[in-house]
Amino acid sequence: MANARHNLTVIVLAAGGGTRMKSKTMKVLHPVGGRSMIGHVLTAVREIEPERIVAVVGHQREQVGPHIQELVPDAVLAVQETQDGTGHAVRVAVEAAGTTGGTVLVVTGDTPLLRGDSLRAFAEEHEAAQRAVSILSGLVPDPFGYGRIVRNDEGDVEAIVEEKDATAAQREIREINSGILAFDAEFLLEALPKIDNDNAKGEYYLTDAVQLARDAGLTVGAHPIDDVMQTEGANDRAQLAELGRELNRRIVTQWMKDGVTVMDPATTWIDADVVLAPDVTILPGTQLLGATVVAEDAVIGPDCTLKDCEIGSGARVVRAHAELAVIGEGANVGPFSYLRPGSEVRARGKIGAFVETKNSVIGEGAKVPHLSYVGDAEVGEGANIGAGTIVANYDGVKKHRTKVGRHAKTGANNTFVAPVEIGDGAGTAGGTVVRRDVPPGALAVSGGPQRNLEGWAERKRPGTAQAEAAAAATGQEPQGERDASHEDRSGVGQTGSGEEQS
Ligand code: UD1
Ligand code: CA
Repeated sequence: MANARHNLTVIVLAAGGGTRMKSKTMKVLHPVGGRSMIGHVLTAVREIEPERIVAVVGHQREQVGPHIQELVPDAVLAVQETQDGTGHAVRVAVEAAGTTGGTVLVVTGDTPLLRGDSLRAFAEEHEAAQRAVSILSGLVPDPFGYGRIVRNDEGDVEAIVEEKDATAAQREIREINSGILAFDAEFLLEALPKIDNDNAKGEYYLTDAVQLARDAGLTVGAHPIDDVMQTEGANDRAQLAELGRELNRRIVTQWMKDGVTVMDPATTWIDADVVLAPDVTILPGTQLLGATVVAEDAVIGPDCTLKDCEIGSGARVVRAHAELAVIGEGANVGPFSYLRPGSEVRARGKIGAFVETKNSVIGEGAKVPHLSYVGDAEVGEGANIGAGTIVANYDGVKKHRTKVGRHAKTGANNTFVAPVEIGDGAGTAGGTVVRRDVPPGALAVSGGPQRNLEGWAERKRPGTAQAEAAAAATGQEPQGERDASHEDRSGVGQTGSGEEQS
């Protein structure tokens, strides 16, 4: 058959209000699976490479219009000032697009499970059958609210009757109009002006084109889609969640078929645009969001949220929250790590427990293992940052950068006051506050020399377990009677009496 893409116009209906969402955000803009609902529809539409895409916008078009233009820059936006029905909307669309011939495919903007291959098959079948109108129908257990497909005794489609206009007998029909229709453009252009609004809703029904085609002796066909969820719309937030769960189930199942191990599909959430390599393992409670990409043999989870991240092969990420971060090949992150935008852990690097990073590079094999904040910094290859180190990047006015050289080893409980540079192979002592650059190979020590006040415990804490222990260690007789009431006020020996501790 002829190429289905040839002279194909796709109209995406998105002018209606969607009041049941009870939201200041327009219905089709609500996110599911990492895209807006209309984003999923537009992705499916683009897959079939139509000659033109027309989106009908009306309600809150200042929100919807720019969103559509961002996703499909060459889409035509047709503005429907008042929402007078689907027939009116399509009329506005064909006028804006200047459609004169070929095939017109109409879809709605709120069906997030819709797939390009289904649309392609439908359009191709419509063209092959040379019909005036084709209806993608669906067989549903509860047809309430949908237009019903009315067939004659021969099984030919006679009309679509809307819920409010249907007789009791017609309401029993379980074959419904999914809202996805294909038209011969020449027929459609003739039919649209003939559609009136003489019905229960006082709207111009696109579906009345079916009756007009029959009256003109033209062919109409309806074919139920096997996978009816693809054409289901989300009208409220409960339906949105339901479709979101099903979308996720499908995405996760597909990744398992493609070689990804998912230990618990029920608690694994993967957005539509995520890309995973074979032999990735995902442990329970993991969300892979946005444009996240994971390379082979990486193990993610349990309990990770990674948004717009790039994870290298063989990396291990445990209980981490990361956004716009790059985690290199064989790197280790977690547990309990927070990687904010611009964090990069190079190959075999480590970001450990209770470590927060932002706009920083942790060099190849470098480690920030414990309880630290690293912001606006560059940690050189092979360096090790001591436990409890804070990069003080913010002076209250401006953010400044910190650089730690290759194979530098810094002590525990340091503060690096930015801007500052610690040279290659340099070190810092525990508790150092680094305010000035440390030359390569030097050891920075910022605290004063340590003073030991000999006999302090005996003088200041006489009669306590602390003083007893000190006396025992120094071989002296303890002075003063032991008085348990001192212990609680000492603030030093908080472990209580020595005898009772195991
Ligand atoms: C429509 C169909 C019905 C079908 C159902 C599937 C008609 C008359 N009825 O009914 O047969 O079973 O969809 O969901 O077509 N829209 C506009 N401009 C308007 C009116 C609607 O752009 O003036 C858009 C809406 O935003 C929505 C779509 O068209 O995306 C369908 O409109 P809606 O009002 O939901 O139609 P239904 O009554 O559900
Ligand atoms: Ca609807």
